[in-house]
Amino acid sequence: MAAPVADVLVVSSAAALAEEAAERFAGTASRALNDAGRFSVALSGGATPRGLYARLAAEPFRSRVDWSRVRVFWGDERCVPPDHPDSNYRLAHELLLSRVAILPDNVHRMRGEAADPDLAAAEYAAELQTAFGLKRGERPRFDLILLGMGADGHTASLFPHSPALREVTRLALAAYVDAVRGYRLTLTLPVLNTAAAVLFLVAGSDKAQRLRAVLRDKPSPETPASLVRPERGTLSWMVDRAAATGLADALGK
Ligand code: 6PG
Repeated sequence: MAAPVADVLVVSSAAALAEEAAERFAGTASRALNDAGRFSVALSGGATPRGLYARLAAEPFRSRVDWSRVRVFWGDERCVPPDHPDSNYRLAHELLLSRVAILPDNVHRMRGEAADPDLAAAEYAAELQTAFGLKRGERPRFDLILLGMGADGHTASLFPHSPALREVTRLALAAYVDAVRGYRLTLTLPVLNTAAAVLFLVAGSDKAQRLRAVLRDKPSPETPASLVRPERGTLSWMVDRAAATGLADALGK
């Protein structure tokens, strides 16, 4: 499978990362709304997208995006209640979703509070099938999937050498993650690689070594982010200078 050409934008600051990512989000949304009348996006968690979510909730993006036709999903979720400080839903709700005119029915939360994470993952897969009108075996094609990358190269909640990396059928999984000593819910690689567009936002010097590996070396379960290679979609990275350390050498530039 030919590697998608990844475009890498190095930005000078957290504010620049938020601005560039908001522009890309709004542009992708606009094209999807014009082409299909709706925009389906999977949000990422962690700290990096905070600036993007806050920027999208402010002008001009708050008015530029027709939020009433946006459908929001998540790439992953921690197994905590939706009001827990660690909840990816809470992060997006506080910074963005509570501040724009998105329709409640269009917010598709992963039920991190569920007592049975496997059941919550299966329910989420069923919700994807319904929301995207999928037949058995079909995968949802998101217009945009936002992803981050941990210092260990994980993305969504797909961690190095996790059995979840070998999943080829299920759309969502629950996994016990030793690194965080807890369960996580996550979309699987087949879903990530079906997206029309994947945008990674990466910031911080602790990501630099893995980022070079992702962009220079061949895909490996050592670095799950390197396994995100949209089959019929674009792959983009927006990274800050700290994360981009040594990247020019890695890219042979
Ligand atoms: C999560 C995210 C995860 C995140 C990376 C980077 O639930 O934590 O989905 O994949 O993107 O861990 O996190 P930071 O942005 O906090 O560095």
